[in-house]
Amino acid sequence: MKKLVVLTGAGISAESGLKTFRDSDGLWEGYNIEDVATPQAWRKNPELVQQFYNERRKTVLEAQPNAAHFALAALEKDFDVIIITQNIDDLHEGAGSTNVVHLHGIITRSQSSKNPNLTYPIEGWEIKMGEVCELGSQLRAHVVWFGETVPMIEKAVEICAEADLFMLVGTSLAVYPAAGLLNYVSDEVPKYIVDPKIPAISSVKNCIKIEEKATVGVLKVAEILLSSQP
Ligand code: APR
Repeated sequence: MKKLVVLTGAGISAESGLKTFRDSDGLWEGYNIEDVATPQAWRKNPELVQQFYNERRKTVLEAQPNAAHFALAALEKDFDVIIITQNIDDLHEGAGSTNVVHLHGIITRSQSSKNPNLTYPIEGWEIKMGEVCELGSQLRAHVVWFGETVPMIEKAVEICAEADLFMLVGTSLAVYPAAGLLNYVSDEVPKYIVDPKIPAISSVKNCIKIEEKATVGVLKVAEILLSSQP
């Protein structure tokens, strides 16, 4: 089976009711990154950071996968699909995708504030101040903050380098290292870009731009891919 690598961003979950970051009315319109999504913010005001991610978790737990998530899951019948997502929601898994790399972590797990490798499931939607890991350190959301390393990036680079087909869905490509992953996909590989506002990717070869929302565009790409199968 051909290896189909899909890099997703907040746009794929927009139609599930989760806000993107940089669109008008995006999350970063209402919050400063420096106040809620950095190690410095956590040191300065852990309660605020905890509350920010508790609210995100509540919204994620209430959200349902949409047609785009389901279409990607269905493609597993015909392709070796690997999803690399920048999203911290679990909607790809909710739709049935079995091979998902979470570059920026996943909000439904907690992590030790001393050791990022110690992660735990969360009961309910809230991590409370005073809840500690096995080392006795405060638990925080299992998400990668600005200024932290992205532990899964090397694996993601390897996956991209092995792609036979590539799809990019709903990301502004504003944040590195995720945005650089396209550079590891071979020039010959067809790259389907689904976004109502296609990001600037002029240096990338073999791009097919589908200027649509995810629920329309991903289904179109799935149709193209399935019809070109032998
Ligand atoms: N379908 C598809 N794409 C959409 C839709 C939709 N319905 N609605 C919006 N988009 C597109 C926008 O046009 C934009 O290109 O989704 C993209 C969202 O971009 P960002 O808000 O920048 O989100 P993302 O690229 O995922 O951000 C990357 O930034 O703050 C960090 O850690 C956070 O993982 C996140 C990273």
